[in-house]
Amino acid sequence: MTEKQRIKEGTSAAVFMIDNVDTITNCNKAAEDIFGWPLDDIKGKKFSDLVLPNDAGRPHKDSLHKFDTEGEKGLSVKRIEQNVLHHDGYEFPVELIICPVDRRSACSFIITARDISEKKQRVQILEQASRNQQAVNSILRIALEDFSLDEILLRALEYVLLLNTPGLIDKGAAFLLDDNADYLVLRAHKGFDKKHVQACGRIPFGTCHCGRAALTGEIQFSECVDDRHDIRLDKMKPHGHYCVPFCSGKNILGVLSLYLRNGHVQNDDEKKTLWAISNILAGVIERKKVEIQRSLLIKKQEAMITRIFDEKKLTEAIIQSLDAGLMVFDLDGKIVSLNPGGRLILSQFVDTETTGLNDIAGLTDIPVVKLMYGTRKTPTGKTAEVSQLNQKGEQRTLQYTVVPWEDSADLQIGVILQFTDITETLRIRREMEKMNRISTVAEIASAVAHEVRNPLAGIKTMSQAIEENCDDSDENKEYITRIIKQVDRLNDLLAQFFTYAKPGKAKKEKVSLGYIVNETRQLLKVKLNSKRIVLAEDYVAGLPDIYVDPDQMQQVFLNLMLNAIDAVNKKGKITIRAQLADRKMKKKYTDFFPDLKKNIDYVAVYFKDNGKGMPPEVAAKVFEPFFTTKHHGSGLGLAIVYRILRENNAFIMADTLQKQGVTFMMMFESGSG
Ligand SMILES: Nc1ncnc2c1ncn2[C@@H]1O[C@H](COP(=O)(O)OP(=O)(O)OP(=O)(O)O)[C@@H](O)[C@H]1O
Ligand SMILES: [Mg+2]
Repeated sequence: MTEKQRIKEGTSAAVFMIDNVDTITNCNKAAEDIFGWPLDDIKGKKFSDLVLPNDAGRPHKDSLHKFDTEGEKGLSVKRIEQNVLHHDGYEFPVELIICPVDRRSACSFIITARDISEKKQRVQILEQASRNQQAVNSILRIALEDFSLDEILLRALEYVLLLNTPGLIDKGAAFLLDDNADYLVLRAHKGFDKKHVQACGRIPFGTCHCGRAALTGEIQFSECVDDRHDIRLDKMKPHGHYCVPFCSGKNILGVLSLYLRNGHVQNDDEKKTLWAISNILAGVIERKKVEIQRSLLIKKQEAMITRIFDEKKLTEAIIQSLDAGLMVFDLDGKIVSLNPGGRLILSQFVDTETTGLNDIAGLTDIPVVKLMYGTRKTPTGKTAEVSQLNQKGEQRTLQYTVVPWEDSADLQIGVILQFTDITETLRIRREMEKMNRISTVAEIASAVAHEVRNPLAGIKTMSQAIEENCDDSDENKEYITRIIKQVDRLNDLLAQFFTYAKPGKAKKEKVSLGYIVNETRQLLKVKLNSKRIVLAEDYVAGLPDIYVDPDQMQQVFLNLMLNAIDAVNKKGKITIRAQLADRKMKKKYTDFFPDLKKNIDYVAVYFKDNGKGMPPEVAAKVFEPFFTTKHHGSGLGLAIVYRILRENNAFIMADTLQKQGVTFMMMFESGSG
């Protein structure tokens, strides 16, 4: 064997020698092995016809022609990768090295062919792996973007379809499990028309390939539309499926449905890749779901915080605007807060000039707060009352409730003291009760007086007739005279009853106070003189007339004077002072006379004596009918005064808080308006 022959046979590559018209003049054993042709069949055949499929032979023939006409300079050693034909009819890739030798010999070219199928396959596998990796990376990247779950699914689907796996067609869908029921919901798709979307919108577990994948947690493969393909559409093209579940542990999250060319044969590599992708997608979906839940939770919390803030604001606004006082103490008895209503109520008990209300901590020392706080252990919600003198020496009554202050865990962290000043309410209530009593008594009085009047008249007439028939010596005459006297007394009383019960409609006119007082003074001249009582009048200059019924007013002053005369002893003095009530005075007395009209001027009259005075418990009742402390009193004098004054839109109160005597304060409508 020559050196040349040894090289030819020793190599694993196929070696062909061809002449200048492409005829194979010789080849080695490897050529037979690689191409599958018996050696004898190879020789004498045209190289391009034998191994180059279809058009692949043309460039080869062109090269030969060029070499033939232009010689070596027209051609150099060529190295190409080319698909060639095997004797069995299939193509496979080889690396061809075409080496021009001598165009005039039987071996114009030496062509070496090396089978590179395996190398190509490895490259393809690497390329596929790289594409897979890219798809995985892309899907992982989506997870980092701010996409919605549906966007994530659509993009992931698109990346999978880009895998370029031979069997995949550009169609697929992604389903997620409905949270509440056992079916899949279509969330993203590629290549689906309307009908398809409708048909596959909701797929129950176990139905069709996707439902089976969700039920079993296994990849479902079909190479064609088989009998497991439960959902069918009109004119559906033949196809196969890979339906891959997304699993997180034992939980199925959804299914990825990929469409395959009809007849595609499943392979493990594809399945592995799809599993890998489905695992990553499951992670992405779970993460996204957690994110969605978290953001929902955050939104809920935000809404809750806003609501709490709003409620807090509302509560604060209510607390701030409350007339009632709200005072909050911690468990050590320290005042934590006090609303403006509370400040106002308590301010009357505090010497604001020295103590002030700025430092609420100091309020724990004021008696009224001490008293209220002292009952913090009384049952929850029970109201109590406390009466205290305010800075002006007036008795004020506070109604209060103490309730525990609890935190969110129902642990007591202090107490809340709620209080209101009910002094005025109590006074008005008493006034109302008094009015009720007065009008009831008035009705009874009126009825009784009416019934008694006629018999009395009869008694008097008969008594007078008897009296006339009696001689002066008749001892019965004295009795009869006494009877007539007592009847007259009873008649006076009845007259008073009538005045009280029905004072009559006030015929109001402008009249000077001085005139009324003077008229009354005339009636009582004898009594005043006999007791040496001084009646002094002190009216401011230019005092306007008062607008009243003069006769009724005379009765008022008569009753007041009679009482004063009864009350005073030696050096008795009655003083009547009057002035126009200014705004300040009106404001002061609105508490006592709530019916005072803002737009009307009033004349304030003080009727004062220096008599024995009266204790507060008597003062509280003096205007009630039949209340008397006197032996022969009827207790109707001041009740009549009260009723007449109200009939004249005037007001009266007894001021007993002075060193000596009593002052009746009255307000009359001014006649100046
Ligand atoms: N100026 C006063 N000083 C002290 N107490 C008075 C004075 N005015 C009235 N009172 C008290 O008020 C009570 C009621 O007075 P009121 O005028 O209604 O009835 P009375 O004087 O007792 O009887 P009447 O006036 O019917 O004769 C008196 O009994 C007396 O206790
Ligand atoms: Mg009287």
